[in-house]
Amino acid sequence: MAKEAIRYFEVDPWKVTERGFNPLSGRVGESIFSLGNEYMGIRGQFDECYSGDKLIGSYFNGVYEDKPLSYPEYFNGLAKRCCFMINANNWLYTRIFLDGEEIDLAKIAVEDFMRELDMKKGIVTRRFSYKGVDFEFERIVSINYHYIGCQRITLKSKEKHSVVIHSGIDFTPIHEEEGKNYWVGCENADDYIICRTESSGQRIYSKFRTNHAPSASHREEKLIWQEYDLKLDGELSFEKVVYNFVEREIDKEIDKSLADKYLAKAYCEYKSEHIARWAEIWEHSDIEIIGDDENQQGIRFCIFNMHQTYHGDDGRLNVGAKGLTGEKYSGWTFWDSETYCLPFYMFNNPKAAKNLLMYRYNTLKQAKERSVEQGCKGACYPMVTIDGTESCGVWQHGNLEIHVTAAVAYGVWHYVRNTGDIQFLTDCGIEMLVETSRYFASRGGWSPKTGEFGLWGVMGPDEFHMMVHNNTYTNYMVKKNFEYTVETVRKYGYPVDEAELNLWSEMARKMRINYDSESGLFEQHDGYFDMPEYDVKSMDPNKVPVYKYWAYDSIFRVNMLKQPDVVLMQFFYSKDFTPEQKKVNFDFYESRCSHESSLSPAVHSIMAAEIGNLDMAEEYMAYGSRIDIDDYNRNTHQGLHVTSMAAAWMNIVYGFGGMRSDGDILSFAPKMPKKWKGYSFTIIVRGSILHVDVAEGRATFKISEGDSVTVEIFDKKYEITKEGVSVEY
Ligand code: BGC
Repeated sequence: MAKEAIRYFEVDPWKVTERGFNPLSGRVGESIFSLGNEYMGIRGQFDECYSGDKLIGSYFNGVYEDKPLSYPEYFNGLAKRCCFMINANNWLYTRIFLDGEEIDLAKIAVEDFMRELDMKKGIVTRRFSYKGVDFEFERIVSINYHYIGCQRITLKSKEKHSVVIHSGIDFTPIHEEEGKNYWVGCENADDYIICRTESSGQRIYSKFRTNHAPSASHREEKLIWQEYDLKLDGELSFEKVVYNFVEREIDKEIDKSLADKYLAKAYCEYKSEHIARWAEIWEHSDIEIIGDDENQQGIRFCIFNMHQTYHGDDGRLNVGAKGLTGEKYSGWTFWDSETYCLPFYMFNNPKAAKNLLMYRYNTLKQAKERSVEQGCKGACYPMVTIDGTESCGVWQHGNLEIHVTAAVAYGVWHYVRNTGDIQFLTDCGIEMLVETSRYFASRGGWSPKTGEFGLWGVMGPDEFHMMVHNNTYTNYMVKKNFEYTVETVRKYGYPVDEAELNLWSEMARKMRINYDSESGLFEQHDGYFDMPEYDVKSMDPNKVPVYKYWAYDSIFRVNMLKQPDVVLMQFFYSKDFTPEQKKVNFDFYESRCSHESSLSPAVHSIMAAEIGNLDMAEEYMAYGSRIDIDDYNRNTHQGLHVTSMAAAWMNIVYGFGGMRSDGDILSFAPKMPKKWKGYSFTIIVRGSILHVDVAEGRATFKISEGDSVTVEIFDKKYEITKEGVSVEY
């Protein structure tokens, strides 16, 4: 595998620590120490002034601006407008003057610098010493209360000092990707400010309170701050609680009295509730690994970020590929949500899983409009989106990656199968199934040569092959989409003509799936086997990403893959393929995959474990779980690969735990990586809490809360109760 780790942060099972001030790693640290709560997120930037290189980043889920997309003449049906989540207010805005000298780490030499994320508690701390004064900064983005962010600054010294602190809210940060600030000041007072986005008109009302009385107040159009003249004599603690409210319904009045209610509560109360909530989350979501602190830290970092990015409290919000940790990928929702994130939430927070799908239901109207724009019927879901419309300015992806629509139907199928939520299926899911089938029926066509139905002019998940015909992954997913739609409509009823249902069945039956029964290989798309070979093992690990170093069209001339395609299909519908088919296809495609996408290694690890190549499974897992902590892709400074973290979770539960969720009941086939002495994980299965503990030679399954559940372990059925079942392997 042509990727290498950069080991910068200390290895610890519950903490991520940066020791020593290293400006060159500043942005990587800002991403790693990001905090969020689904509603808002903030990077790990310094609280006080820092004149060195930085990205002051604060993001609110669903708060965006847009820009027109333009193309040469005759390019119909391409996205016309691109929405992007914008950088918002720096609610941590702070300036510190010690005996009149401003604290700015780019200008002064501090000692004992450290920055740390405590994943157990959800708290980021930073410390350093200067002129005999110990500085400590602590911050929280409340996991209990969407609107609340907190900061505490503690100074300690044996000498007396004068300290001046400026504390406020700053709406002037630049959205770096566009080199522009998008906020317009609306209203301000000494302790609150309201700004709105320039063209989308979304308003944010921010108010703060500290534990000291200010000596002066300053107001500018987009920045307010208060000045505090303080004395340091031993210890000084400065606490700030901030309330940030996003007005999503443009005409709804902002309720200012609500802010006062929230701000009446002290920092320490928010902190203790926050820690208690994280303890509950870990109780039901932790993965414990014995004997491998690196992957232990890696997987907890992933679980931590999945929970802080999304809880499913609002069906209008979704998970961006980089969560709320940076500007790259613009806060967009991808197919990652249904394929990679949904399983994590389905088994850790089913309400969140449902709301990921509700987001698609709530944006069905936009998907239908998009389909019409492309000369099709039904609903075509966007490649990337914030508000449900297509925002992809690269038409090759936006128009050709039609597998995204099939992923939505797959998500409905997978969710209903594992939660039994028939109400959701009949109220919302069925409509999405019908409209997605309608889209594919109109997007595909019949081969005059073979009489097969197929999808021409597409791009599969492997984005290194553009405008191909009959991508096997896509065709298979669409075949399943048709079959599940027909089955659901027949079972639960929905106004669709019998003729239309029959047509979809026929399309499913006659779907072209390129399969060579002699070798057992699925051909990734028409003509793939003819393509010139490229040796991915010869790639220079420092010359990635490929997109940056290769001429764009040269990527499409060889058989190198960006990410799994056929292998992914065999994972999603694992029960449909034999072990031999999985092995032969894995061996073939793995050796041709560059893993340019961070979603790739985990799926390879899962399938390597299934076919019995544990060494390879272990190697891929390290890369998946530590992708950002070790900056494997050299782009952590842009933000975290949040959706890939969901893949890393699957890597352990589906990979080593051997779980499969595409059968009639959940099945498991645990394995132990060589380096590990044991591991355990907890999942929610139809309301019951199932604990799986894998020791050497023995796996124990136990229900800790709720009713018993029936699962398959190594192909044998067991009823798991509170007494537990132990199986040798
Ligand atoms: C991958 C896509 C993915 C996107 C966001 C791209 O690099 O190729 O499949 O949806 O990243 O994670």
